[in-house]
Amino acid sequence: MMSSSNVDDRVALKSFEFADAVAERKVAGGDPAELVLDGGFVMPDANAFGNTFRDYDAESERKKTVEEFYRVNHLNQTYEFVSRMRAEYGRLDKTEMSIWECIELLNEFIDDSDPDLDMPQIEHLLQTAEAIRKDYPDEDWLHLTGLIHDLGKVLLHPSFGELPQWAVVGDTFPVGCAYDECNVHFKYFNENPDYHNPKYNTKYGVYSEGCGLDNVLMSWGHDGYMYLVAKENKATLPSAGLFIIRYHSFYPLHKHGAYMHLMNDEDKENLKWLHVFNKYDLYSKSNVMIDVEKVKPYYMSLIEKYFPSKLRW
Ligand SMILES: [Fe+2]
Ligand SMILES: [Fe+2]
Repeated sequence: MMSSSNVDDRVALKSFEFADAVAERKVAGGDPAELVLDGGFVMPDANAFGNTFRDYDAESERKKTVEEFYRVNHLNQTYEFVSRMRAEYGRLDKTEMSIWECIELLNEFIDDSDPDLDMPQIEHLLQTAEAIRKDYPDEDWLHLTGLIHDLGKVLLHPSFGELPQWAVVGDTFPVGCAYDECNVHFKYFNENPDYHNPKYNTKYGVYSEGCGLDNVLMSWGHDGYMYLVAKENKATLPSAGLFIIRYHSFYPLHKHGAYMHLMNDEDKENLKWLHVFNKYDLYSKSNVMIDVEKVKPYYMSLIEKYFPSKLRW
């Protein structure tokens, strides 16, 4: 059985192996030591881990696991790999379901078998959405964006190819140009063949100044997948909503301001909303559980407003 210690953004991982860890920065600062897990991570003995999170050994074990996650992520996320994944998942031939069915599916394979720990994934989604709703009552598209931003994590599910965590979660970054040094565990890009390929390892690589992020291939993960699903199914969310979904794990940009030379004016406008959103994604955690049935009608009305009733995934 597996579990994680951080309750806000956790996918569980009954079938995933120890090395498939994932991290997301939780606090400002960018020190890899401050990483916490987006999507949870798996320890050799998760029960013990849950109980010993604060002790030094568990802490250093956690860091090693996170580091190993990024080592594997950085060596595998090549231009070629991303192109292949985009083509493969861009076909949207895996299944058909509604947004709410996807929320339920994601919830289902979260490990809820340990009553001492955590909350279902749906709580993270609803807490993010409800916190935004409280502060930005008129921006209903932003509430919905909060609700659906992590649905791409279904890539971990067997019916979506059961991708390894390094291809689903963790920080994202452009491929096809030089990796910025602010990328977490930058040193591991040395193991990526693109790092040594002159076509891909210059500041602009295959891109040009101000070309717009839409023209930039990002490392493959749940952000990019959910964006594809939303776009191809003709979601009518405003451009900022789609931008948030697509780049919410792009920490080098929204936290460090890297890769600005690839952005166009629309990206810069949208980035303002991503900054707003990111705060809620990270800090909306609360002890007050949201009553799903109570808020569901509101979110169903938003889903109906911005999405078709069935989507291709
Ligand atoms: Fe996410
Ligand atoms: Fe999230």
